[in-house]
Amino acid sequence: MKNPLRLSPEPVDATIESAAAHAEDISNAFRDLQIVLPADAVVRRDEPMARRTTLRVGGPADLYVEPGSENALASTLEIAHLRGLPVFLLGRGSNLLVRDGGIRGIVVSLAHPRFSKVEISDGRITAGAGARLKGIAHEARRAGIGGLEFFEGIPGSLGGALRMNAGAMGSWTFDAVDRLRCMSRSGEILDLPACEVPVEYRSCPLLATHIALGAVLRGRPDDADAIRARMEQFSNKRWTSQPSQPSAGCTFKNPLPTLPAGRLIDELGLKGTRVGDAMVSDVHGNFFVNLGQATAADMLGLIEAVRTRAREARGVELETEVEIVGEDA
Ligand code: EPU
Repeated sequence: MKNPLRLSPEPVDATIESAAAHAEDISNAFRDLQIVLPADAVVRRDEPMARRTTLRVGGPADLYVEPGSENALASTLEIAHLRGLPVFLLGRGSNLLVRDGGIRGIVVSLAHPRFSKVEISDGRITAGAGARLKGIAHEARRAGIGGLEFFEGIPGSLGGALRMNAGAMGSWTFDAVDRLRCMSRSGEILDLPACEVPVEYRSCPLLATHIALGAVLRGRPDDADAIRARMEQFSNKRWTSQPSQPSAGCTFKNPLPTLPAGRLIDELGLKGTRVGDAMVSDVHGNFFVNLGQATAADMLGLIEAVRTRAREARGVELETEVEIVGEDA
């Protein structure tokens, strides 16, 4: 018999009920996606994110979708909305730390070849969000377009680079953007001149709410050999100053242009510090590398330890540049 004094269900019951409701939403959304999206889309359940991030850590996404067109992307967003599921946009996973419990809802990647095209005409490069930055840099070189050499060393896609205004070698992504094409979470497409898109160091606020679909990029006419020489120079600098083990690039934003996080961490003597298999690189203090079996919890523990030390020793509040998402195990 029920206890008449029990006014609300046990929290544990509520947790089980909401987990069951979530599982049902996921099953329904999976079925909807399979029915609605054309056959060229990729739709999977429980996709391990460790395979899709350069750091090689992270639990599974409930649903993983690679739509093959803008319409299919809009349909995916609509299904997510109808089923009350959050959507997370995944680039090449090169700036991402997914927690060990994985990501609830739908992870969308624009890795489909239709979103990865790079086309050049009249000195302008039109590239999809899924295009690799390295590929764009080499296409630009072949076409004699200079100014995009810095893309060569960023291990990401154009979409991710636009979203975080990624940078290297003194340039950032929006230096090279002429027009931005993006989609709102309700499927509306915007095509904007770059001058109408506010950007900051390592951030494009519009793309916190909108999904980058691609961009028109510009450079300046230049000699292909001169471009190649600059690319080699950048590449050499990277190979000598950055580690080759799995990482998510720089962990923290530089607190000030005159105070690079890597130098600060180096000065604090923290290179080589480990939590499990997560380690502060002994090559560059702002790169935290996975020695093989690191978990997201190891990485987060290391981030917290370094942050605490910077605060206590130097009064500096380090802010992560790496995007941290998902749930604990
Ligand atoms: N430094 C040290 N010790 C270290 C690391 C760096 O003393 O362990 C010193 C360097 O000698 C240099 C200064 O710190 O004098 C800056 O270092 P670096 O030239 O490597 O540049 P950074 O500011 O650490 C930035 C970007 C990188 C980008 C490089 C190269 C940020 C947070 N990082 O690093 O971007 O590749 O410039 O252009 O802005 C990324 O965003 O993930 C990333 C790796």
